[in-house]
Amino acid sequence: MQNFVFYNPAKMVFGKGSEKETGKYVKMYGGTKVLIHYGGGSVKKNGAYDAAVASLKAEGIDYIELGGVQPNPRLSLIKKGIQMCKDNGVDFVLAIGGGSVIDSSKSIACGALYKGENIWDCYTAKDKFTEVLPIGVVLTIPAAGSESSDNCVVTNDETGEKRSSATDLMIPKFAIMNPEYTFSLPPYQTACGITDIMMHTMERYFTQEPNVDLTDHLCEGLLKTMLNNGPKVLKNPNDYNARAEIMWAGSLSHNGLMGTGRIGDWGTHRMQHELGARFDITHGAGLAIIMPAWMKYVYKLNVPRFAQFAVKVMGVDYSFDNLEAVALEGIERLRNFFRSIGMPTSFKEAGLPCDHLEEMAEQALRYDSIGKFKVLTKEDIVNIYRLAAE
Ligand code: NZQ
Ligand code: ZN
Repeated sequence: MQNFVFYNPAKMVFGKGSEKETGKYVKMYGGTKVLIHYGGGSVKKNGAYDAAVASLKAEGIDYIELGGVQPNPRLSLIKKGIQMCKDNGVDFVLAIGGGSVIDSSKSIACGALYKGENIWDCYTAKDKFTEVLPIGVVLTIPAAGSESSDNCVVTNDETGEKRSSATDLMIPKFAIMNPEYTFSLPPYQTACGITDIMMHTMERYFTQEPNVDLTDHLCEGLLKTMLNNGPKVLKNPNDYNARAEIMWAGSLSHNGLMGTGRIGDWGTHRMQHELGARFDITHGAGLAIIMPAWMKYVYKLNVPRFAQFAVKVMGVDYSFDNLEAVALEGIERLRNFFRSIGMPTSFKEAGLPCDHLEEMAEQALRYDSIGKFKVLTKEDIVNIYRLAAE
């Protein structure tokens, strides 16, 4: 097993009515002047915004607000939020929404105290954030896991790049998670979230490290929980217990625990970010396109691991004589699962053009290498995009 440091201090406040605690926790972490940050309005429709504001008011906490975060959050709005923090003496950022809102909030919270000239330098490894305003979250979509992760992903609307920045500073102080607020999620967003949660687990599961029994079991359990509960919430969006299983899985998949002792791959995410930046496709949908292609491209490097996935997660019968067929059947079943929940699994199914694959591969490799299970060359990336074409 690899050495590791596991650190995740985010306080997870889970369940019905938890939103009423928002003000209490903001106060606990020193917030006196809050920037409330949210997206295109879903949180105003489903009551999450009103509940959080009522809780802040009950604690006598002052606030200003900035809405309008788009999926694949944009740097331009982040810069506006940073300026608002500076102009108004904001000392706490409260995200109400999903990964895009949380990531935008993380960037604002870091950017408000950043002393360099261009915060984009912290997304291209030229510089690092060293200070942050405390961040709190009211989560309304289980997907990105940003409510307990140490990173944020941002699209630079001037250059068309989508990049991430990571530091322990970005781990939110707390996350309020009431699964009832996820009842209003449309089926497509629900399915994208399910896919992203599975991907955060699979990016870690597909490792070349052999001695990771405990985390293998944790990953397999988490993935099976998603396979079991995903279809339930698509059939009955108000199934509280199934929504709750998915919401908790979303945080556990990306709070670092599943990756302890192993080296994750993350190539699928990096290749997907090019789709997100170029086509503005929803993150989970882009992952459903890339992951099966990546699996088919690399499985021969460790057939037993892919066969283990097929048997333990996808329910394929074990066959000692033909492990490769077992591994391939697992990949096919995963792809079929994505299709069954309404995800595209190819460029074609998503209506995306395939005419700039070389350029996308170059862009993906612009700042650093991609993949750990297999380090991918430009040619590999183009081949994977091609495999994902049909
Ligand atoms: O904008 P509003 O109106 O709020 O609508 C949102 C948005 O259109 C809607 N929504 C959210 N909660 C809802 C709801 N609609 C109805 N009812 C609710 N309860 O859902 C849409 C998508 O929201 P978004 O925040 O974009 O979703 P998600 O959580 O999937 O976040 C995606 C972003 O997170 C990044 C992705 O790259 C992408 O930019 N990621 C962040 C990570 C991290 N920080 O650790 C890791 C991930 O791998 C991912 O890369
Ligand atoms: Zn993701």
